[in-house]
Amino acid sequence: MKQLSGFIAPYKKPITLAVIFMLLDVICEVIQPTLMTNIVGKGIQSQSAGYIVGTGLLMIFVAFLAILAGFGNARCSAVAGVGFAAKLRRGLFAKVQEFSFHNIDHFSTASLATRLTNDVTQMQNAAIMSLRIMLRAPMMFVFALIMAIRMNASLAIILVVVIPLLAVAMFLIIRRAMPLFGGMQTRMDALNSSVQENLTNVRVIKSFVRQNYEKEKFKDANNGLTAASLKAMNAVILSMPLMMLTMNLSSVAVVWFGGGQVITGQLNVAQMTAFINYIFQILISLMMVSMMFVMFSRASASYKRIIEVLDAEIDLENSSSAGERPIRGNVSFENVSFQYDPANPEPVLKDISFTARAGEVIAIVGGTGSGKTSLVQLIPRLYDVSAGRVLLDGVDVREYTIESLRGQIGMVLQKNTLFSGTIRDNLKWGNEHAAEEEIVEAAKAAQAHDFIMSFPKGYDTWMEQGGVNVSGGQKQRLCIARAILKKPPVLILDDSTSAVDTATEAKIRQAFHTVLRDTTTFIIAQRISSVKDADRIIVLSDGRISAVGTHEELLATSGEYQEIYESQLGKEANA
Ligand SMILES: Nc1ncnc2c1ncn2[C@@H]1O[C@H](COP(=O)(O)OP(=O)(O)OP(=O)(O)O)[C@@H](O)[C@H]1O
Ligand SMILES: [Mg+2]
Repeated sequence: MKQLSGFIAPYKKPITLAVIFMLLDVICEVIQPTLMTNIVGKGIQSQSAGYIVGTGLLMIFVAFLAILAGFGNARCSAVAGVGFAAKLRRGLFAKVQEFSFHNIDHFSTASLATRLTNDVTQMQNAAIMSLRIMLRAPMMFVFALIMAIRMNASLAIILVVVIPLLAVAMFLIIRRAMPLFGGMQTRMDALNSSVQENLTNVRVIKSFVRQNYEKEKFKDANNGLTAASLKAMNAVILSMPLMMLTMNLSSVAVVWFGGGQVITGQLNVAQMTAFINYIFQILISLMMVSMMFVMFSRASASYKRIIEVLDAEIDLENSSSAGERPIRGNVSFENVSFQYDPANPEPVLKDISFTARAGEVIAIVGGTGSGKTSLVQLIPRLYDVSAGRVLLDGVDVREYTIESLRGQIGMVLQKNTLFSGTIRDNLKWGNEHAAEEEIVEAAKAAQAHDFIMSFPKGYDTWMEQGGVNVSGGQKQRLCIARAILKKPPVLILDDSTSAVDTATEAKIRQAFHTVLRDTTTFIIAQRISSVKDADRIIVLSDGRISAVGTHEELLATSGEYQEIYESQLGKEANA
């Protein structure tokens, strides 16, 4: 619970109040049977109407007090439970924001979403229930036990038999039910991730006409959950009748043994009734405790999943010596090796060394999976190198604070996206203080201005989540404009004009010459036409640099480059 204490601490006051109210509530409930006994025993026997009315009024007062205490307890529990859950959600969200790409690779988006919503709700319910029941049951148990023994110690021997009997029965039931409830939680997870994945990818599903398959998949997950829930419920179904049976048998035992005492005058009828009431209170509290166990076992699955996120080690943080430095744009790799999974013996990048001077255009080509994206991701430290160094202006990238590093590097990711908001909002991600002219200039350079203006609302056009209401090529151009607006000393374009026609792409490159004259630009592209004007072209193959040079040099020396060139020649001629 150590990790959660920070989220609970702010609610000490409502928690304390909830406990005090509960204590009051329990005391009220426990003294009622005794008051009743007094009315019958003392009041009726001595025929004192005054005593009867007085005690009766006291009972009404106690009942009201119990209602108030119950209300106060419920309210404070809710305030503490809901507040705790809100804090926890905020903490989890903040933690996820800190995540490195590596951390994100580890948790799936669907599972993170479930953890932030469903699992937190489970914890919230557990917290509220604990404040309402968990302390109440043992308190009730102890108080009622004391009252029962004080009232009649010899009858209390019945409890010595009944309590262990019910306790053992409940223990056996719970032991069987706990794993079943755990299983139910797992099924719930499966259902959640099925729904999440379906909804996030609904367009792909429709285009592949996979609706029926998805329906079947959902049906399976849904049926699985239903079956698991029924099984778990069935396991505890016996507890209620068992409880009733124990209560009734105890009443019979009290009447059986107490009856004799009534006849001999050791006990009056009122005391006997009160005694039965106390036994009921004791048994009910025992039952509540066991139900708490079931609930906790369900919450513990959620607890583990939440702690996993909170405890995730963020492997990419500012080093103690990191500082904010302006970047001019010299980039060099020194014997860099990189692997996503340290356990994997085969690195994705092997012994990469090259230097790019400020303002140069460096192109990277190579087959799919050759490591192009992995290479450029090391520059803004989206991942850290496994060996070697990446230097910016001669300083290791790990010596820059992540904010100052990423703030000065423009990046158009291969899998890029836009966010819900207007086009202007989206572009301003590059620079939130950008003036209108700067926005238009960036959009023009990215050849996006014309199509933006063709929309009735121009720059105020609303983008849907993920930018689904513009074409693929338009989206790419908006992403480029967003990166240009940052006016970064280093710009990385990862396959970011793949959906743009060659003529428009040529215009974008032309615009770069003027707008980004001093920017060191890395261009990853499949088309030779996109890279042939670069100052240098790096050919990657299987994570190694197989050749470096200008277009002409590579055509003369690199067999691999020639191959790529020739395979595209036909298309180039037509372009
Ligand atoms: N997040 C990741 N976790 C683990 N392995 C990864 C991850 N991303 C990529 N890889 C692996 O690293 C290798 C290089 O991938 P990378 O994305 O750098 O290739 P690429 O040259 O950019 O390919 P493409 O032209 O298809 O974009 C591939 O074998 C890929 O499977
Ligand atoms: Mg790639």
